[in-house]
Order: sequence, then C-alpha cells, then structure tokens
Amino acid sequence: MAGAVQFRPLNGDFGVEALGVDASAPLDESTADALRTAFERHRVLVLRGQRLPPAAHVAFSRHFGELEIHVLDEYHKAEYPEIFELSNIGRDGMPNAVHPDLGTLFWHTDASWQAAPALATLLYAEQVPRDGGHTLFADMIGAYEAFGEAERERFRGLAVVHDLHVSRQKAGYAGMTPAQRGKRPPVVQPLVRIHPPTGRKALFLGSHGQAIRGMDELAGRGLIERIMSHAVEPRFVYEHVWRPGDLVMWDNRATMHRATEYDTATEPRVVRRTVIRGETVVPG
Ligand SMILES: [Fe+2]
Repeated sequence: MAGAVQFRPLNGDFGVEALGVDASAPLDESTADALRTAFERHRVLVLRGQRLPPAAHVAFSRHFGELEIHVLDEYHKAEYPEIFELSNIGRDGMPNAVHPDLGTLFWHTDASWQAAPALATLLYAEQVPRDGGHTLFADMIGAYEAFGEAERERFRGLAVVHDLHVSRQKAGYAGMTPAQRGKRPPVVQPLVRIHPPTGRKALFLGSHGQAIRGMDELAGRGLIERIMSHAVEPRFVYEHVWRPGDLVMWDNRATMHRATEYDTATEPRVVRRTVIRGETVVPG
C-alpha cells in the first residue's frame, strides 16, 4: 500500500521515520521505492514497532541491495550468515557482563576498512536496556558543508588509511588473526566522497581511519580528530533511543555512528544487523 507510507523528520533533513510500514510483510515496489528515496535523501531511516525475525530481516534488507557477510566469523548466526548479532545474553539466558563489540562505542562508519565499504546497515532491536545502549548518528554531509570553502578544498585533496586491525586493538581486542588480516589489509579512502544518490559531498572518516596519506603521523591524527570533533557537534547528530521492535537503517556513505554504553551485567541488549554491499569510494 504505497499511499499508506508517511514520513516524519527526525532532525531537520537528517533522519526520517517511516510510518505505516510492516517490514516483515512482502513490500510492493512503490513502497520499496518510497523507502529507498527517503533513505537516500535523509541518510537515516527509522521504522518502529516491527516484529522482524531473521528471515524477514534478510528479505526486507534485499530491497536495498546485495547483502554482505562479515569477515569476523564469531558474529554470524549459523542459519543466516547475512545476520550479524550483538548480544550480551549468556548460555543461562541472563546478561553476561560482556560487551559484544567495544568497537561500536567509537564513532565509525561500517566497513570503511574495506576497499568497497558498506553502503547501508539495517539494525533491528530485539531487546534493549532500560538505560543507555543508544545509537548516535552524525551527518557527514551537513558537517562537510559547514566547513569554509578553503578547508573543503584542502580536504578534497586528502586520503585516509583505514585499518580494522588497528581499530580493533584501539577498542581493547587482540586485533585480527593473520588469516583475517590477509583478507583485509589496510585500505586508502578519500577524506571527502561523493554521495552517489544525491551528488552531495560527505566527509568519510571514523575510528578505522588511522592516518592521512603522506602526512606526518601526529599531524594526520590531529587533523582527523579535529574533523571528527566538528562532525559530532550536537547540531549534526541524531540520537536514537531504542525501543524493542525498532529497525534503523543508515547510509554509511554519509554518516558516522556509535553506540552509548549500558550496564552489560544487568541489562539485556540483543540487536541484529544486515549490511548492504557498497562500491568503491568515488572521491569528492
Ligand atoms: Fe557500526
């Protein structure tokens, strides 16, 4: 029922909520088109009140492109390799005090460490904590456009080295195994990219971005930190406070995101995601 979809803005032109869509039911093409258009225009798309078992999650996601399977095998659900689950529920069914991915607490763009980074991520909340475990989204188009012309021009000439191995270590993990590292060596991405559906320019950064190519290490890191601090100013950020049944889809070509902490010892949090395969980045 295409005419039934309505949209409600979340933070100016950044983020939109779609009302009247059941993501678990087959979608007709005009509804799918309306959702794709809203997603491309607003970068974050929220659907609340869903019941989305893994098979329906995968089927809905396919309306937006081809799905990706993550390089870190430990996160897959056996029956649905396209689903990546983050859960703090132990074998006894209770919260186990272990955060499932500390890397999510840092501002990042999903899979920016791949030559062809993730286009979009669709995250569905099965269980959410009473407090914390929110997701913050930063608008990398708005942040880019707010810089002065001289800085924008300078940024357009720069390239950033992205490396999952280093960002995993920064989050307190051992890094990847040699086999995983062999599959995913560091990649170089432009600091400014074109957002293909709109032609607008977006900053492309996040915790996987380690250095600026050809720049002294400290100076490069300083510049990355300065740009990221600017991009996460409250005026560019939408904070999603999760309810069970929320499905949030974001455009990794034009956003960064991070999760906020929660009490992993007492509060269950179970979320599942799919990732839409992206293309090689076009410099802006
Ligand atoms: Fe993420």
